[in-house]
Amino acid sequence: MRSAAKINLHLGVGAPRDDGFHPLDTVYQAVSLYDDLTASRADDWSVTTRTAVHLGDVALPGPGDNIVDRVAELLCATRCDEGCRPTARVEIDKTIPVAGGMAGGSADAAAALVALDRLWDLRTPDDALLDLAAQLGSDVPFALVGGTAHGLGRGEVVTAVEDHGSWAWVVVPDTGGLSTPAVYRHWDTLFPDAPATPAPAQPVLTALASGDPMALAAALRNDLEAAAVDLRPDLGELIARGEAEGALRGMVSGSGPTCVFLCESPEAARDVATALSATRDVVLTAHGPVAGAHLLG
Ligand code: C5P
Repeated sequence: MRSAAKINLHLGVGAPRDDGFHPLDTVYQAVSLYDDLTASRADDWSVTTRTAVHLGDVALPGPGDNIVDRVAELLCATRCDEGCRPTARVEIDKTIPVAGGMAGGSADAAAALVALDRLWDLRTPDDALLDLAAQLGSDVPFALVGGTAHGLGRGEVVTAVEDHGSWAWVVVPDTGGLSTPAVYRHWDTLFPDAPATPAPAQPVLTALASGDPMALAAALRNDLEAAAVDLRPDLGELIARGEAEGALRGMVSGSGPTCVFLCESPEAARDVATALSATRDVVLTAHGPVAGAHLLG
């Protein structure tokens, strides 16, 4: 089962709701950085995670603390007979930056939902899978759907949108973790009078339908960027450098600290990546949109 990273092309954020979550008006795009997950029969439950060399020495969740453990518990509690015990051997090969703002954990959750549903022959209907995904995290329903999609609510209500482009990205992962809750909390202190309604995604939706990279570059918007850059000013410098090297537009991905750069073409993305490699250990290129969690066949 293969599952993709996401970029938020538009991330409008509103003042926090009573439940503490922020209302979002967002546009997600799945891009070609993947985690691969396999689930096979076993007598007990285990999750093994291997990380690609480019991810470096990242801290991974310990046993019992992985989002995949929560997937298994939720499937068991909601879709299996009472008293059932999850058993499987799950192996994850990660290439999506860990805790980087590209929803790698959500990608693993989506892949695990589909893989375990099949392994245990639960035949959960798609709308029920989306419902379970939303309980696991705001970005997990999108990881199931993939492509390019509009997200509302806290990000979990997703609808596919028209996208006439094939977009070229440079991705600069970062291990200096900015946690998502910390970035949202900092955004609250920077913008205490933010309106309840997030900025609408229409400019990005129009640019996607045009297929024009210049139009999309002009429309990209991430409200969390101000908070991420305030916590990590070096990210602002990296974005400026990528743009000076020829990217149409650079921005923080989601809550960061990974930064992404939209380029005019795959060739232009390779040139920008080469230039940024002079001072960064890991610089990747990717394209989008790509499919959501799916079987490798
Ligand atoms: O839903 P998820 O588990 O990905 O959210 C992680 C954290 O990010 C939440 O606990 C919350 O602090 C913050 N968050 C938020 N508003 C959202 C999504 C996430 O405040 N719409």
